[in-house]
Amino acid sequence: MPTTLTLNDGASLPAIGFGTYPLKGEDGIEAMVSALENGYRHLDTAVNYENEAEVGEALRRSGVPRDEVVVATKIPGRFHEKDLALQSLRDSAGRLGLDRLDLALIHWPNPSRDLYPQAWQALVQAQQEGLVRSIGVSNFTESHLQRIIADTGVTPAVNQVELHPYFPQEQMRAVHARLGILTQAWSPMGKRNAPFAEPAVADAAAAHAVTPGQVILRWHLQLGSMPLPKSATPQRQRDNLDVFGFELTNDEMAAITALGRPDGRLFGGDPDTHEEM
Ligand SMILES: NC(=O)c1ccc[n+]([C@@H]2O[C@H](COP(=O)([O-])OP(=O)(O)OC[C@H]3O[C@@H](n4cnc5c(N)ncnc54)[C@H](OP(=O)(O)O)[C@@H]3O)[C@@H](O)[C@H]2O)c1
Repeated sequence: MPTTLTLNDGASLPAIGFGTYPLKGEDGIEAMVSALENGYRHLDTAVNYENEAEVGEALRRSGVPRDEVVVATKIPGRFHEKDLALQSLRDSAGRLGLDRLDLALIHWPNPSRDLYPQAWQALVQAQQEGLVRSIGVSNFTESHLQRIIADTGVTPAVNQVELHPYFPQEQMRAVHARLGILTQAWSPMGKRNAPFAEPAVADAAAAHAVTPGQVILRWHLQLGSMPLPKSATPQRQRDNLDVFGFELTNDEMAAITALGRPDGRLFGGDPDTHEEM
């Protein structure tokens, strides 16, 4: 199982990222410094997490060389007009204290505004100008993806979607595989609804002498999904990266995926109807 994955633009990303929401303030900086000390090299933030300054501070405080860390942020729904989207990227870089963003995404498509194609044009331009290395989207459906690809001829490098055992996103993973888009998983554990006690998870944890959380993250890697677990707990931070020393069987994988259900989303975040500004 590789520890990095290559994107369709040739860049590579660590196979497991660190989710930074809702880490803020001094406690948040300390949790992120701990994550970097524990080996994370990919930090996932967003304008709407209101913690980009903390992410930049944690990176500098950790002493980890800048070019060893992938910093990813997201354009919020209120800045989809092209000029606003470009300004949002420059402002993010400023708050992070970085010359360049490693990865930037459109946070939600917000289809009722119908402006996400402009935000995508902004990302394509920002990549051409060197402000952003890799560009992608989050919470896009197949039709949103098809539209921006048809508009620009540029395929997003990643689509970051809700993905955990109760919502395994089989259809979107197939779409991504067909289009050459990497699947990133938000709430990869299932957050407050983590299926740690489900027999499919607990039995695999016992069989491999690992924790239920490690089973779920290993399930992501074997699916080809890049998980972005958040933890403010140093031991869990370490456990969540320590998933390369065992392999789930096909039966274990199938049993965990079978926990999926149509209403498995955490809060009804259907991108066709749920909007975030
Ligand atoms: N693009 C989007 O629209 C979107 C939406 C939501 C989230 N995200 C991104 O995805 C990241 C992760 O999502 P999330 O924070 O919602 O959910 P998550 O990573 O599935 O769950 C985080 C929760 O699980 C706990 N946890 C972590 N590792 C654990 C382990 N090994 N054992 C037991 N509990 C464990 C954490 O507790 P402690 O911290 O107390 O250890 C925390 O309460 C976010 O931080 C954000 O970067 C993106």
